[in-house]
Amino acid sequence: MNVLLTGGCGFIGSNLVRLLLAERPEWRIVNLDKLTYAGNAENLADLAGNPRHRFVRGDICNGELIADLFRTEKIEAVMHLAAESHVDRSILSPSVFIETNVRGTQVLLEAAREFGVQRFLHVSTDEVYGSLGPTGLFTELTPLDPSSPYSASKASSDLLALAYAHTFKLPVVVTRCSNNYGPWQFPEKLIPLMIANAVRDLPLPVYGDGLNVRDWIHVEDHARGLLAALERGVPGQVYNFGAASERHNIDIVKLVLTLTGKPESLIKYVTDRLGHDRRYAIDAAKATRELGWAPRHQFERALAETVRWYQANRAWWERIISGEYLKYYAQQYGTKS
Ligand code: NAD
Ligand code: DAU
Repeated sequence: MNVLLTGGCGFIGSNLVRLLLAERPEWRIVNLDKLTYAGNAENLADLAGNPRHRFVRGDICNGELIADLFRTEKIEAVMHLAAESHVDRSILSPSVFIETNVRGTQVLLEAAREFGVQRFLHVSTDEVYGSLGPTGLFTELTPLDPSSPYSASKASSDLLALAYAHTFKLPVVVTRCSNNYGPWQFPEKLIPLMIANAVRDLPLPVYGDGLNVRDWIHVEDHARGLLAALERGVPGQVYNFGAASERHNIDIVKLVLTLTGKPESLIKYVTDRLGHDRRYAIDAAKATRELGWAPRHQFERALAETVRWYQANRAWWERIISGEYLKYYAQQYGTKS
């Protein structure tokens, strides 16, 4: 099968490309990525020369390029991951989130409609459901109630994707996953940022009271879920993924300090994120029941492995923590006290 995978040089995309090449030896992956600040061709450097992986640098908003790829590569399925993905950046500069996440998705849906595909997998997030109180879980029937420009743009793209399934019978499957961690994650997100700061003895900036809750899943478990949804998902359906690993942010930060052998005095409570969602927690029973999927990684063990990966691959993230990243860091954290 010829698969167009968007955002394959990002965190989840690069882990997914590797999984697909290993698990589906007959598939060919065309990886379309714009290489924004978050995309890094180095994430897939070991695939150079692999005839089953073609990297194309380009924008998902470029309809002509997309049509050309569908035509020349005989695309049979789409796995759409490309997005602006960081909530804090969406609060600083929302416009690009609308352009890429909403318009870019519509450009891809339109091309898939024109050329025809067996499946269009739209990779979304649990953030579209908004924030939970102290109890309860998000199911696929939870009403959409996004809080940030990021989650609002993802919710918009979900609705467009489902509308193409309903109106044009495009075989769209939507997935909504909780917070991912693991290798190759850009160090602006909680876990890699805390690891990178801890090993350099820099302050660990905890927003608000640190008691917000996220439900963590290892990126490989998410990638396996995406493969299962592509192959076994029913068109027009939504599947949640999560690993039932709810943790308070502050507990994760303390665990990172223990794993890196650094003192808790590095913790710095800072001004809260605007509109900060309090709690996310996923009910993934539908994916287990209908896709035969279940997570394999245990959070504390896999977090320890992740910390070791960042320690062993310091050169990779140190190259990222320069230039644009420093400017963003100063803008995001410089005024926080
Ligand atoms: P990421 O920011 O690490 O990677 C995004 C990739 O998309 C980058 O390689 C970037 O260059 C590329 N990209 C951005 N704009 C583009 C454009 N206009 N054209 C082509 N490529 C473009 O993101 P991630 O964490 O790997 O997330 C991937 C997808 O999974 C996103 O759709 C995100 O909403 C979703 N998701 C992420 C998480 C998570 O915890 N990280 C959880 C659930 C869902
Ligand atoms: O739930 C899925 C979503 O998870 C994905 O859709 C997003 O792409 C991904 O970025 C992630 O969103 P979050 O906002 O939950 O992740 P982030 O790593 O930015 O923050 C996790 C929690 O940690 C959140 O409550 C905010 C807090 N935090 C984050 C940073 C970067 C801090 O306390 N300090 C920080 O410096």
